[in-house]
Amino acid sequence: MALRPLLSEEQIRKRVLEMGAQIDADYPDGKLFLICILKGACYFLADLSRAIKRDAQVDFMGISSYGRGKTSSGEVKVTKDLDISLEGADVLIVEDIIDSGVTLNYLTGLLKQRKPKSIRIAALLDKPERRLRPVDVAYVGFRIPDEFVVGYGLDYAEKYRNLRDICILEPE
Ligand code: PRP
Repeated sequence: MALRPLLSEEQIRKRVLEMGAQIDADYPDGKLFLICILKGACYFLADLSRAIKRDAQVDFMGISSYGRGKTSSGEVKVTKDLDISLEGADVLIVEDIIDSGVTLNYLTGLLKQRKPKSIRIAALLDKPERRLRPVDVAYVGFRIPDEFVVGYGLDYAEKYRNLRDICILEPE
């Protein structure tokens, strides 16, 4: 397998700073919770949360999906739930990538039941061509083509998450 660079560390850094500034402008006050979906998004969360200048709390959620990307009837299971209550808070779900949309379509529905004041999604990468379920994404870092990408949290069989750049993984 070969790695072909798609987004450099510098491009990612600049875009994440812009996203943080936009979020600061959109949420001038109130309780803001950043909900990181494990594992891949923890790298993005670490940078995005520090690009946001206002006060924001973070928490983590684990999700596993079956049949994702292959069928629209993908099942989603919560493997680690939040420690905090979302009631009355502005909630921002932080994801590394949106592919079929199955995970976020399910998760948004689930978290809405917990009575947050608002709920939005911030995703570093979006592959709109792959969508099977509708997802309303408020903040998108980069729209990318339908290629298999790794790095900056994204893995292939748990490998490559700690690459600083985002690369396309392709056969030699
Ligand atoms: C990735 C990503 C999303 C999901 C998106 O997670 O972080 O949670 O897939 O895909 P979808 O739009 O088709 O539902 P993954 O299951 O690879 O887990 P990981 O972050 O732990 O690697």
